[in-house]
Parts: sequence; structure tokens; C-alpha cells
Amino acid sequence: MALKFPNALLFFFFFFFVFSTIAPGSYEDPTRRTMEEFSGYPFHSSHPIFSLSPVNLESLQKQFDELANFSDTPAPSVTRILFTENDVLARGYIKELMGKAGLSVREDAVGNIFGRWTGSDPELGAVATGSHIDAIPYSGKYDGVVGVLGALEAINVLKRSGFQPKRSLEVILFTSEEPTRFGISCLGSRLLAGSEALVNGIKESVDDQNTSFFDAAKSAGYVVSEENLSTVILEKGSYFSFLELHIEQGPLLEEEGVSIGIVTAIAAPASIKVEFEGNGGHAGAVLMPERNDAGLAAAELALAVEKHVLETGSMDSVGTVGIIVLHPGAINSIPSKSHIEIDTRDIDEKRRDGIVEKIHQSSIDIAKRRGVKLSEFRIVNQDPPAKCDHLIINALEVAVRQLNLSHKMMISRAYHDSLFMARVSPMGMIFIPCYKGYSHKPEEYASIEDIANGVNVLALTLAQLSLE
Ligand SMILES: *[C@@H]1O[C@H](CO)[C@@H](O)[C@H](O)[C@H]1NC(C)=O
Ligand SMILES: *[C@@H]1O[C@H](CO)[C@@H](O)[C@H](O)[C@H]1NC(C)=O
Ligand SMILES: *[C@@H]1O[C@H](CO)[C@@H](O)[C@H](O)[C@H]1NC(C)=O
Ligand SMILES: *[C@@H]1O[C@H](CO)[C@@H](O)[C@H](O)[C@H]1NC(C)=O
Ligand SMILES: [Zn+2]
Repeated sequence: MALKFPNALLFFFFFFFVFSTIAPGSYEDPTRRTMEEFSGYPFHSSHPIFSLSPVNLESLQKQFDELANFSDTPAPSVTRILFTENDVLARGYIKELMGKAGLSVREDAVGNIFGRWTGSDPELGAVATGSHIDAIPYSGKYDGVVGVLGALEAINVLKRSGFQPKRSLEVILFTSEEPTRFGISCLGSRLLAGSEALVNGIKESVDDQNTSFFDAAKSAGYVVSEENLSTVILEKGSYFSFLELHIEQGPLLEEEGVSIGIVTAIAAPASIKVEFEGNGGHAGAVLMPERNDAGLAAAELALAVEKHVLETGSMDSVGTVGIIVLHPGAINSIPSKSHIEIDTRDIDEKRRDGIVEKIHQSSIDIAKRRGVKLSEFRIVNQDPPAKCDHLIINALEVAVRQLNLSHKMMISRAYHDSLFMARVSPMGMIFIPCYKGYSHKPEEYASIEDIANGVNVLALTLAQLSLE
């Protein structure tokens, strides 16, 4: 409570600064909101000026700890795979928190969960925020979770502060951001964004136990059939804006001592599967000139990937060969088959597409030169990058200045549900620092203070956008 008065003062000075110094003449500009509109109170009255109630650090930390308990592996690691018992328990936990926050809860056919705070003008497109709570094997408790528990706390902060939204505010939990079980990343948000190709992909997917997506969903209590997968696809204009709060998963914010990263774009990912086939043979008996070694073709292609990526001369181009499998996989047998999987990303789509094309050309050349067959060259996905929306970036800048938080503009090199939400809504992302940039391992950590900064920025930004 004692914090309220200084906060209010800060708010006052901030707006005085923004509206009178940075943007002179803004009062004549009908596209700019005044303090009255933002606060819901007359500016020069005896009413309290709109200010944020503090984040409840203790209860938020407790929620992280409790949610992390729904895990298939012991703490500090977290393993929460789509539609397993622990995933279902964690989903129930989030729905309960949504209910406690006074949100009306809806689930779609694939288990995307929506908690809505209906605004005073419910006909307008809503302002949404959210992330995921699934976790790859032996990972940590902050990836995705910060953007779900943090979003719910942002709603609670706004409610405690007496804020009234005009556009509805919505918290979304996306189904299966991680590709662990069915090999499809961002399954929930991809489908929301309306991918018919994905509808077919899901129909054919099975996990490593040969369980279909539909059977897995059923065991988690979701009644979903091939016919109603397309009911998940969002209507255009459903959302006025979408925001995601996330740990950086990189070291920059922590290294530079900066509190908030405002994301300007999400890099464009592509992934490729390649297979070579040769004749194999005995490692002793077949002489070198007679060989067509599928393993060496894969090795050469891996080096070609690195070369093509470096050739762009841009730090933003990256390429990784994370999987090479050789058949039959015996020390005394020349590989007769090789399977390699390639991931390449860039902030510039054309440049990324150029890399993919060069990798294709190299695959053909290597196969020819080594006398092996290029039996598969499959582009698994080749997604466009996403640019964050200007209006949202502006609102984020207003929020960080009001909160007096240091910030920097940055690119998200990992992709997130936001990459897909950007196809159906203007999109923005907020990054907070995480310990040494660690992610997808048990050491993943973000301090509750850093999380609270993110929650405050999110809350103020949701508030502004809700009044647009
Ligand atoms: C996690 O679960 C264990 C066993 O059910 C329980 O003893 C512990 O209190 C739980 N921890 C939290 C933070 O909920
Ligand atoms: C999906 O279809 C099944 C019947 O096939 C139905 O019971 C279920 O309610 C539908 N779900 C949605 C979200 O439309
Ligand atoms: C997987 O399940 C399908 C349908 O139940 C069945 O036709 C197929 O033979 C199974 N495949 C394996 C490898 O068990
Ligand atoms: C804002 O932060 C700076 C740097 O941390 C600090 O020096 C300054 O006093 C803060 N201003 C307010 C109004 O809190
Ligand atoms: Zn994530």
C-alpha cells in the first residue's frame, strides 16, 4: 500500500513527460490517447491516478513451484509431454487459476485454453496474451510458463488496480509448442492460424508408441475427430493484438544488465530431411575407388550447410545439422543409407530461402559426385519470419518508460507461438533475462523480480491496447 503513492506520482510524471515533451501537440492528435482515456479517471480530479498494484511475488513464485511439480522427471528438471497425466493435471491447475482470476474459460478441440475478461465493448477484437506449459524431457520450469502464469498475474494486477478493459483481454494456453510427442512444433497456434496442411499432418501423426493424436487427445479428455480439427482455426479479426512474455533463452539481457527485451521480429525457421543411399559393403573388402558411401555424403552435406550459412556474411543466418543417422550403423560396414536433418534460420526470408536452395543444390551435387542416390530431400517446414507490430512496440516502450526499466530492442532467434499468431493478429513479444541464457535444461532460471518486471510491462501494455 505504501508503494501506491510514489507509483502514482511516477505515473503522473511519466505521462507529463511523454505527452508534453516527447510528443508536443499530442492533445490535438485524435489517434493518441489522453491520460483520462487511459486511466478511466478525469486527469485533474481528486480521484487516484491509475497506477499498477504490485505483483504478488510470493504467490507467483508458489505457482511456478507448484506447476513444476507436474513433471515426469524429478525436480529441478521438468518433463511435461502433451496429453500425459501430468500435462492434464497442469492444464487443470491453469484453468483453476483462470477461474480464480474471474476469467471465463473455454477450450477448443485440440486443447488450446482461453480465459477471457470481457471488456466494456465485447464486439471489438480482443487483446490476447499467452504461451505454453508443455516441457521437453529434462527441461526447466520457466520456458513458456512465464508467459502463462505471468499473463494471469498481469490480469490480476490490472484487476487489483481497478482497471476496466474496453476490448476484452484474454489469456491463451497453447497446446504443444514443443514438438516432442507428435513431431509438430507449435501445434495449437499453427492450427489457430489456419493451416489446412497441418490438419492433414495431424491426421497422420502418431507418437513413438503408435498412438494417434486423436487417441492421445481422447485420453486427456478432449473429444476431437478429423471433422472438427478445422473448428479450431480462428476467424480473421478475432484478435486486435497478441503479446507473449517469454524468457530470452539467450544471454544478452543478463550480460548487459538490461531488464526488458522488446522483440522487433522473430527469425524465419526452416527444417529439411535428407536421405542418401549407396551400396554399402564390407569395410575391409570394398576398395576405396569402388565405394559409394552414404555416410560420407551426409558428412559432406553437413559441412556444406555450414559453408552456405557462413557465405551470407550475416550474423543473422544460422544453420545446424542436429541429426545424422547411418545405416546399418556397424563399425565394419560402409554406410548404405544416411539420414540427416537440417535446421536453418534467418531474419531475412529471401536469404534463408537462398540457403535452403543452396543446400538442395549441394545435395544433388554430392550425390552425383559420390555415386549415391539422393532418395529424399524434403523441406519439412519453411516458415516466413514475423515482424512485430508498431503499435504494440510503441505501447511496450511507453510501459517500460513508465516503469523506469532498462530495455533494448532485439530479435527472437528462437520461434514461439507468436510466430504463428502473427499470421492472424498484430503481434509483439517481451523478453526477460534468464540465468546464462540457459533453456531446455534443468538449470533454466529466471528471478521472480525479473518475472515481475515482465508482468508489469505486460499489464501496462495490455491496458493500453485494450483502450485503443
Ligand atoms: C510437490 O509434490 C510433492 C509430492 O506430492 C509434495 O510433497 C510437495 O509439497 C509439492 N511441492 C509443491 C511446491 O507443491
Ligand atoms: C468434435 O466432434 C465431436 C464428434 O465427432 C464432438 O463430440 C465434439 O464436441 C466436437 N468438438 C468441437 C470442439 O467441436
Ligand atoms: C500403428 O497403428 C495402425 C492403426 O492402428 C496400424 O495399422 C499399424 O500397423 C501400426 N503400426 C505399427 C508400427 O505398429
Ligand atoms: C530510474 O532508474 C534509474 C536507473 O536505475 C535511477 O537512477 C532513477 O532514479 C530511476 N528514476 C525513478 C523516478 O525511479
Ligand atoms: Zn517457449
